[in-house]
Amino acid sequence: MATRKIVTLGNETLRKKSKPVTAFDDSLGILLDDMKATMIEKKGVGISAVQVGVLRRAIVIEIEPEEYLEIINPEIVKTKGKVTNSEGCLSIPGFYCDVPRPRYVKIVAQDRHGKPFEFEAEDYIARCVCHEIDHLNGILFVDLTEEGREYKKEHGVV
Ligand code: NI
Repeated sequence: MATRKIVTLGNETLRKKSKPVTAFDDSLGILLDDMKATMIEKKGVGISAVQVGVLRRAIVIEIEPEEYLEIINPEIVKTKGKVTNSEGCLSIPGFYCDVPRPRYVKIVAQDRHGKPFEFEAEDYIARCVCHEIDHLNGILFVDLTEEGREYKKEHGVV
């Protein structure tokens, strides 16, 4: 496993829509391993491939302490409720603000071998899942609140 450089706010790559993963091969495995290593090094709880500069629909989330879930080509199939809580992002170091997210989310996705699975999450993990799926669509948490939009304005970034 190797760590990769994190793409930060202001880099236009973060605004691009990631493409579906179609090849479930060794290079996908290496990408996922490197994403996990990078997330651990930076003390994050979730990371998407775009954050290491790869525009593919792949995510790694720490769902329990030192237990990681790899999520490929996710689709949200159900959400419930709404909770507002603090959020941050490895691509926007040092900034946190309250963001509303669904309290519950259900997704369908694939694992690193292409095998489909369902995953349900609540509260903090549901928040992570939604945050990371937003990344795949070029959306950042600072887009979602007034405080976040102010931060972008202050820093002259989009
Ligand atoms: Ni993020």
